[in-house]
Order: sequence, then C-alpha cells, then structure tokens
Amino acid sequence: MVEKFELIPARILGIETSCDETAAAVIENGRRLLSNVVASQIEIHAQYGGVFPEVASRQHVRKIYSVVEEALKIAHLQLDDLDAIAVTRGPGLAGSLVVGVNMAKGLAQASGIPLIGINHLEGHLYASWIAENEDAKLPDFPILALLVSGGHTELDLMTDHLTYERLGGTKDDAAGEAFDKVARLLNLSYPGGPSIQKAAEEGNKEFVNFPRAWMTGSWDFSFSGVKTAVLREVRKYEKLEEKGTSTEVPTSDIAASFQESVIDVLVTKALKAAELYQTKSLLVAGGVSANKPLRERIEELSPIPVFIPPFKFCTDNAAMIAVAGYYRFCAGQRDSLDMDVKPSWQLS
Ligand code: KG4
Ligand code: ZN
Repeated sequence: MVEKFELIPARILGIETSCDETAAAVIENGRRLLSNVVASQIEIHAQYGGVFPEVASRQHVRKIYSVVEEALKIAHLQLDDLDAIAVTRGPGLAGSLVVGVNMAKGLAQASGIPLIGINHLEGHLYASWIAENEDAKLPDFPILALLVSGGHTELDLMTDHLTYERLGGTKDDAAGEAFDKVARLLNLSYPGGPSIQKAAEEGNKEFVNFPRAWMTGSWDFSFSGVKTAVLREVRKYEKLEEKGTSTEVPTSDIAASFQESVIDVLVTKALKAAELYQTKSLLVAGGVSANKPLRERIEELSPIPVFIPPFKFCTDNAAMIAVAGYYRFCAGQRDSLDMDVKPSWQLS
C-alpha cells in the first residue's frame, strides 16, 4: 500500500508502445498536457484483421525516435527540462514493450533523469486526470473503476492514488476483444469496436436478445457466450442464404443487439459495485470507453459523478502514462536501468 504523498511540480515525458500505437507525450504537474503524439499502426494491421506482433514491434522501432522528438518539440522542451521519463512496462506485447522501454532507458542513461516503469492499465485509469483546463473537476476517492480495453475487462476499487483492489474481471474474452471478434464474424473492419458502433447506429438493438452472462455473486464477466451466440445467428442467415431463402446477414441489427448486451452487463455491474462499495466517483477507462452508447448509458444512469476521458485519451496514448508517471514520481518511485518488461503484469 502506497502512503499518501506530496504533489510537487514536475514535467514528465510518457512513452507508450504496448500494442499498436507508438506514442509520446509531456504532462506538467500531473494534468496539463504540453504535447501528445500518437503514431497509429491501425491501417497496417487492418489488412490482417488484428495486430500482427512482429510487424508491430518493427513499426515501433521505425517510429519511436521521431515520435519522442516531436513530443519534446511541441512541448518546447529539451530533455534536460524533464523531471522523469515514464514508460509502459506492461501488460502488452513483449516485442513492442521492449522498444519503448529501451528508448526510455537510453534517454534516462544519457540525461541522468529518473526512469519510471508504468502499468498500462494504471495509465488508462489516470487518463481521467488529464485536464483540458485548470478548473476541471477530478475524481474523488473512493472510486469504482470500470476498465474496458482490448486485453482487459475488470472492476477495480481505487481507495487512493495508486491503490487498487481488483473486485472481478473477465473469465474469458475482454470486452474489446469480443467487439473485435464479433466484427470479424460480421465482416466489419478492424478495430471492431468503432466498426460495430457505426454499424449499430442503423440497427435495431432489440432484434436478437443475446445472452447476458451476469456471473451472479461475483464481479466477474464473461463474453465468450455472446460471441458464440452471434456466430450461431450469423450461420443461421448464411444457411438460409445457401438455400436461397434469405438475401443477406442483417449486420446492423446483429451489431446493435450485440453491443446492447455488452453495454447492459458492463453498466449494470459497474453501477451495482459503485453502490455496494459506496464510492464517490465512477470511472470508465480503456479503449471500449470510447463507445458512445456506453458513455451515454452510464452517464444517464449513474447517481454519482462519472469520469470518462475525452475520446482521444480512451484508446492507447502516452499522456495517460505520463500522468500515472507523475503520481509515481511524487510517490518516490524510481526504477533502475536494468528494468525488464512485464507482458502479463496485473494492476493489483
Ligand atoms: O485500450 P485500447 O486502445 O488497447 C488495449 O489496451 O487493449 O483498447 C482497444 C480496444 C479494441 O478492442 C477496440 O475494438 C476497442 O478498444 N474500442 C472500442 C471502441 N473504440 C475502441 N470498443 C467499442 N466501441 C468503440 N467506439
Ligand atoms: Zn490500452
């Protein structure tokens, strides 16, 4: 458990290369964004229908230097003006993480500036501390956090800065992973989340009543059942098509019904946990928190203040890593130059 600590003025460079975005950003005093550069590889991976790990790490190698250089240039800073370099240490793809960590180590060694390894999931949670203006309200503790990314889906209780209790998480697919897999079943493009959201806009969310895995008695989730149910539904139409009795798969309706079943479970369980643990704020983070109907539903139903980052900070970025780095810097964390990556690192 981290003790309370003093918040001091500091400028932190964040570096993120855990998956398919090469990113660097500078954050001042834990909230003010001085720069935020993201080189996305989405177009490269879209042709494979998902992230190709070897291609991802090579792209990071090609981009990392110019991305960091640009982040410093936009912030009008030199390396020596920084107080720490925060880098994603895990979880993520080992070959991708290594690129960011090695870059951070090189900068730290050359400048003598402290190196701080950050958990990517902690970064996602801290995206809600990035403030567009000085008066922006920040979440109050205790916080119930719904973390929904491509690799993780969990409910965490955050009783103080850097202090987490994992209440439950997915037993199989993460919510983002389910969006990506269902998009593939529906022949929608990668990444699946935004494609399903777009297709669903034209669809009827009550078209199919897809199963909801409530995992009663726990704060766990399961999304493999709904994914299989979508597969069965798609097959049903494909068979009809073969027989010549139907024209095509009702993609928008299936997308809308699938999205509805995922949102229903995520929102219902998050609200219940917030109520039971009597939290003062509800925080939604990770790539899936970019989902518009999810944001609207939770904001509409929550009796306590809801914090969801602006769209650009929901998916992977380095500003969130720099913010988490700021709090770790203030808490006194310093890592050594032999720090290794942690591809399967849990938040708590
Ligand atoms: O947090 P993130 O950028 O990367 C990980 O840390 O995994 O999350 C990526 C995930 C992908 O599965 C993507 O399909 C999903 O977030 N996502 C969305 C939306 N935008 C991104 N899911 C639902 N609706 C969206 N609008
Ligand atoms: Zn992420």
